[in-house]
Amino acid sequence: MAAINAPRGTRDILPSESWKWSHIIKTASETMMDFGFSEVHLPIFEHTELFSRGVGETTDIVEKEMYTFNDRGGRSITLRPEATAGVMRAAIENNLCVQGASAKIWNWGPMFRHERPQKGRYRQFYQIDAECLGIASAMADVEVIALSIEIFRRLGLKNLEVVINSVGCEKCRPVYRQKLIDYFSSHKSELCETCLTRLERNPLRILDCKNESCGRVADNAPDIFDSLCSECREHFAEVRAGLERLGFTYTLNKRLVRGLDYYTKTAYEILSGDLGSQNAVAGGGRYDNLASAIGGGKIPGVGFACGLDRVALVMEQQGCSFGKMPNTDVYVASLGDDSRGAVQILTYELRKNNIRSECDTSGKSFKSQMKIAGTCKFACIIGADEIANNTVSVKNLSDGSQVNIPVNEAVNYLKENL
Ligand code: HAM
Repeated sequence: MAAINAPRGTRDILPSESWKWSHIIKTASETMMDFGFSEVHLPIFEHTELFSRGVGETTDIVEKEMYTFNDRGGRSITLRPEATAGVMRAAIENNLCVQGASAKIWNWGPMFRHERPQKGRYRQFYQIDAECLGIASAMADVEVIALSIEIFRRLGLKNLEVVINSVGCEKCRPVYRQKLIDYFSSHKSELCETCLTRLERNPLRILDCKNESCGRVADNAPDIFDSLCSECREHFAEVRAGLERLGFTYTLNKRLVRGLDYYTKTAYEILSGDLGSQNAVAGGGRYDNLASAIGGGKIPGVGFACGLDRVALVMEQQGCSFGKMPNTDVYVASLGDDSRGAVQILTYELRKNNIRSECDTSGKSFKSQMKIAGTCKFACIIGADEIANNTVSVKNLSDGSQVNIPVNEAVNYLKENL
């Protein structure tokens, strides 16, 4: 029978990689805590409507990338393609933002999008996501952007570019949208097929089409800044001033519109120069109308998500440190089969005392055990003599020296010498 492989666009994160992921998540978690964000764990599947209404019917995500199925009760369920809509749903459902209260929450986990897999783009990928809910002020945008930058700073990422834009609000965007439709309609012959379908449905998306010809047309498209209402203009100026106050450099990109429809005012991305075409390591922005789109009244929000898979890829490429690889410190070896039981007892005792230790459970010879012990700092050896005297021989594997000590002193001895 043919072997079964993982579905296309999914990957197994094996021990050689998973400890690096743990480092990234731990660093993100500490940074989130320093910024006052609390962790939440939310469902991986939600009602499909949450995303069609929240992320937007005309987005690529909702139109063609969602993993949607009917469950056994006949309800339409979707594996979450992103975290923000679920976070807002949870905030509404659990009354986190009633009477002007605010909530700063983060989460991490798998997201699912049926995209064409390539380097840095998977169908099951992982995001670290932070959302600040209930605050309309531009200072919250600045805090969120600063948080994402700080995570990357602590991870040691270099060669990053912060790109920001304002995509307006429900008051000024319709005017801009119409200007774009008028402009792009007069350049139909230069647009790719996808953009022709976007023309009426979602003309803003034409602005960030990767096609060269579309790009040339988009370069001369009407400028969003000329269409922003005074509130959006002011908000954007405050975000920029805030970023400058904190000493951040950023690039303005009027063509940054993002692939999700819930954004209002601020949109931003953090790009890496070391990733090829899938170069965004993080993206986010403000979404003041998401709550009402999913039936939750008025709760402003701003947040970001960073792609864990991509961050790990860039760190690897840039030779960033992932901290120390977890290693076994002590190997407990049995010299002869009669001491195997005593070996397991001592190993368990060491482990109870937080000493990373390992022993053989498969019946390997003493020679093979000592070969494996080679990567550890100490080997504890128990043979017939040690059993008779209630001792253990502790060998320092870096200098070859060896001592014989009472077995009940092994924990203290190793703690002092590790
Ligand atoms: P997004 O730009 O769609 O935004 O995704 C955020 C990040 O997730 C991207 O910058 C990228 O690093 C990673 N990512 C996205 N798709 C893939 C994929 N197929 N494979 C690997 N990595 C991927 C959002 O999802 C918004 N919810 C972000 C947000 C939070 N906005 C406000 N709050």
